[in-house]
Amino acid sequence: MAGRVEIVEVGPRDGLQNEKRAIPVTEKVALVDLLSRAGFSRIECASFVSPKWVPQMAGSAEVLAGIKRAEGVRYAALTPNMRGYEDALAAGADEIAVFASASEGFSKANVNATIAESIERFAPILKAARHIDLPVRGYISCVTDCPYDGHVEPGQVAAVADKLFAMGCYEISLGDTIGQGTPDSVAKMLLAVKNVVPVSRLAGHFHDTAGRAIANIDVSLALGLRVFDAAVGGLGGCPYAPGAKGNVATEAVAAHLERLGYHTGLDLALVNEAAAMAKAMRTG
Ligand code: HMG
Ligand code: MG
Repeated sequence: MAGRVEIVEVGPRDGLQNEKRAIPVTEKVALVDLLSRAGFSRIECASFVSPKWVPQMAGSAEVLAGIKRAEGVRYAALTPNMRGYEDALAAGADEIAVFASASEGFSKANVNATIAESIERFAPILKAARHIDLPVRGYISCVTDCPYDGHVEPGQVAAVADKLFAMGCYEISLGDTIGQGTPDSVAKMLLAVKNVVPVSRLAGHFHDTAGRAIANIDVSLALGLRVFDAAVGGLGGCPYAPGAKGNVATEAVAAHLERLGYHTGLDLALVNEAAAMAKAMRTG
């Protein structure tokens, strides 16, 4: 046995946020409830961002109110600012995630702020969360390539990771937002980030746009990462990242890891059932 690898399920958030059809809250709740039985410890299922920017996530409070909470599962929500933080708390999120970019072009498009401004907005969130022991995860987007700025230097990613970790994020999730990373560019980026954040506090977040997500997971495993984000059914993308097609599919990552001898703690039959449900939600 090669050890344990955790998959963080982000389908109900990253998977669904980009879907065109207005998905009813009841369907989202049913998906989360099924995922809750599949063995995940963390499920990201809400996003308290502006509904003008991401209309699909408007019902996030209702989703958190409607789910059957399973013991040992933390239900997470994305928060871009203090308003989002307060809404996430009121809705009962068990942990929150702040999200920054390693490239200025994507930062502007995604949150209408420079990287520095977005990080400034996180400072009061992290301070408030520390007071109540609420875990905060930090995302970095465009860790190898940006749809607006092109290639992203590993040093830029390391600089943002260093800041988020120093501010108190317990884990930094490194996002290949448009799925253009290669094993080589991912390895270079990880080597730079590992210099500033312990590898045990890093997660890989790969999109499978170019079909390289699994190869990028393999290189990340070789460099010591043991946490990966994935979305059932391979749904998703980011509305502000043209070309960011699907997240890597949870069922594919889980099967791949098990083949390599890693233990994920997941019930693959339930994961596959959730994947079918997620895909069906696309068309209604
Ligand atoms: P803005 O327009 O610059 O800011 O947006 P604003 O302060 O002028 O706010 C605009 C409107 O939104 C106002 O309403 C605010 O009240 C409201 P109005 O006066 O026009 O009626 N507002 C809010 N409403 C609800 N919840 C809030 C909130 N804040 C303000 N928290 C802002 C700035 C950050 C709000 C906006 O740009 C935004 O919401 N962006 C979010 C974009 C997003 O969610 N992207 C997808 C998630 S990131 C991702 O998917 C990548 C990731 O998966 C990793 C990877 O793959 O790379 C994490
Ligand atoms: Mg993503």
